[in-house]
Amino acid sequence: MHRRTLILAAGAAALMAAVSGAQAQQTVKIGLILPLTGPFTAIGRQVEMGARLYMQQKGNTVAGQTIELVVKDDGSVADTTKRIAQDLIVNEKVNVLAGFGLTPLALATAPLATQAKVPQVVMAAGTATITEASPFIVRTSFTLPQATEPMGDWAFKNGIKKVVTLVSDYGPGIDSEKAFSGVFTKAGGQVENLRVPLANPDFSPFLQKVADAKPDALFVFVPAGQGAQFMKQFVERGFDKSGIKLIGPGDVTDDEVLNNMGDVALGAITTHHYSVAHDSPENKAFVEAFKRASNGTRPNFMAVGGYDGMHLIYEGLKKTNGQGGQALIDAMKGMSWTSPRGPVSIDPQTRDIIQNIYVRKVERVNGELYNVEFATIPNVKDPVKAAKAN
Ligand code: PHB
Repeated sequence: MHRRTLILAAGAAALMAAVSGAQAQQTVKIGLILPLTGPFTAIGRQVEMGARLYMQQKGNTVAGQTIELVVKDDGSVADTTKRIAQDLIVNEKVNVLAGFGLTPLALATAPLATQAKVPQVVMAAGTATITEASPFIVRTSFTLPQATEPMGDWAFKNGIKKVVTLVSDYGPGIDSEKAFSGVFTKAGGQVENLRVPLANPDFSPFLQKVADAKPDALFVFVPAGQGAQFMKQFVERGFDKSGIKLIGPGDVTDDEVLNNMGDVALGAITTHHYSVAHDSPENKAFVEAFKRASNGTRPNFMAVGGYDGMHLIYEGLKKTNGQGGQALIDAMKGMSWTSPRGPVSIDPQTRDIIQNIYVRKVERVNGELYNVEFATIPNVKDPVKAAKAN
């Protein structure tokens, strides 16, 4: 009797091992690396909530595989991002790397994605060159030149002749400064460029220079989440009564912080790829579900980058029947879908996202501040890479 029990137990153990072996093969691991502590936590939190919402809605089985999300905090330190990515590839054997809240964090990981042939889905960072850093990078956020060039056009056509630009002094800020200044001066406008440090920015000395220059408009890029700090100093210096218009890509009026900015933000004109006020059934459903899942927090463009990034991974896996690596990247190229932001596709040449850019104005609607879209530039590619290709 005793012996028989032992044999049964051994058989059960072997079966368990076989089952768990099969399970191991049937799991697709996604390593989601984001700043979840430190000054850029707001970005990481939005991307994570967007990614989790997608999984909650679609379930965790794709093409017969179980999707496992491994979330890691890099504190927005590039060396940490790289160390985590290395660990996820070597020890956790992830099939996909995703997230990347800021440009330096995406760039630090690119060589590892190339070496390990692991797709790297950039859901947040926006410097144009990022997708050129590895053939394994695909992006569901945006590029700053893509979001900004239409602003240069709009500003000049709407009577703005003299502009001071004020941007965070790193990749996306410099991209937006160049994109705006290029289009705006070509049209005949006059521009002065100022750059503010990315970390712990004090805008006051720069705002003094803006006051002295007396431009028609102040063009601003700060990363998502920093808009509140900028707007506080903007009001303290009396800019709300100066007649100087506030313009820029939509990062400065990101939907999460916008509602707490107060009347000073009213009338700000920005160009961007996502507004929580975007009028479509897909976006209404997205915003409602996001708020329900996150204690009433508004999604911003970072959340949409995370949500769409998961969509791209899920749909890519369906096409490859669960295969990763080069096959997965190839499957993602050219994919198109209806995002909460509108129609999007992945440019098969550049692996960047092609999307509408909307011109928006901050208005109060039903007591809340929104970026209300009033014009659409359809299917915009990253103009930096489009220019190189021609
Ligand atoms: C970036 O670091 O690439 C970045 C971060 C926040 C933004 C835009 C770009 O809002």
